[in-house]
Amino acid sequence: MKGLVLAGGAGTRLRPISHSMPKQLVPVANKPVLVHCLENLADIGVADIGVIVGDRGAEIRAVVGDGSRWGVRVTYIQQDRALGLAHAVLIARDFLGDDDFVMYLGDNILAGGLAHLATAFAERAPAAQVVVTPVPDPTQFGVAVVDGTGRVTRLVEKPRRPEGDLAVIGVYFFTPAVHEAVRAIKPSGRGELEITDALQWLVAEGRHVHAERFGGYWRDTGQIDDVLECNRVLLGRLTGRIDGAVDSDSVLTGVVVVEPGAKIVRSRIEGPVIIGADTLVEDSRVGPHTSLGRGCVLRGAGLDSSIVLNDVSVLGVRGISGSLIGRSAQVSRVAEEPHRHRLVIGDDTKVEVPG
Ligand code: TTP
Repeated sequence: MKGLVLAGGAGTRLRPISHSMPKQLVPVANKPVLVHCLENLADIGVADIGVIVGDRGAEIRAVVGDGSRWGVRVTYIQQDRALGLAHAVLIARDFLGDDDFVMYLGDNILAGGLAHLATAFAERAPAAQVVVTPVPDPTQFGVAVVDGTGRVTRLVEKPRRPEGDLAVIGVYFFTPAVHEAVRAIKPSGRGELEITDALQWLVAEGRHVHAERFGGYWRDTGQIDDVLECNRVLLGRLTGRIDGAVDSDSVLTGVVVVEPGAKIVRSRIEGPVIIGADTLVEDSRVGPHTSLGRGCVLRGAGLDSSIVLNDVSVLGVRGISGSLIGRSAQVSRVAEEPHRHRLVIGDDTKVEVPG
């Protein structure tokens, strides 16, 4: 079985972070979301993976390379415009050949892996298998209507009046039957070839589309709050490891990872937390649910429930919470006027300060 990972798209909902990096490279528990996807595929023995990339392809290639770090072989497939998930299947036809494949949205996190999903697909041998999970508000998702055996009877994209609460999540198992479907459908109202329409076409043709439930933790990391929540959940599954230096005046509680070259001085770290390589934390309080990238400097800082990317400095600012701080950003305190804020920030940035 092959893999097809979708790492193109616009990422508009993840601005401003997606201005500076493709959203699939945003780190969750200090590892790009896309790497979590590749690892999940490698774990079920999928080694031949096509990665769909758009205009940010160079950045994705720089991180993923040929995939050998994860024991897989990556073939890049260029999608010039984000014309939809089914369009990605259409342009991957040569790579996919007549093999079965798993399609994986490169911004989705499925904690706990895909093993039981792959087994269900192999055992039931449907024409296609979607993965579903109950959600509180199905109007925001593609919704699968299923019979008592798990056979899909209908699929509806973002229904106004949903029949049931089973959202289709970002991993799909296909046989070559899907190729005829993606050629048969027409672009939707938003101008995209929708995978929901391709699946609905298979259902209408009487083909067997199975819905397998995912019982683990799943999130689409399309928006900042989802990324922060994923980070919190994945950090909660860490195993502690201290490879850096922690001085005797520091206190570490809970699960903490201190990467090589990192230094903790006179600080309190409340896990789960990851401190990236070569990061200095001095006279600060970090955690819980926080990951710091590499090469950061925190002095007199206090932050929790946050993601800090590489080479950030936080100097003398406490009370940072639920934040995502981009690469090489500087957050510092000025002494003179306590109620004056000086901001040098990029497009589409969101800043919240006490009134
Ligand atoms: P989406 O999150 O549906 O689309 P998007 O990236 O355009 O996001 P936004 O709505 O915030 O602008 O895409 C799901 C995944 O599939 C994501 O990893 C991007 C990828 N994708 C492609 O590779 N090609 C496409 O044509 C589309 C629509 C998405």
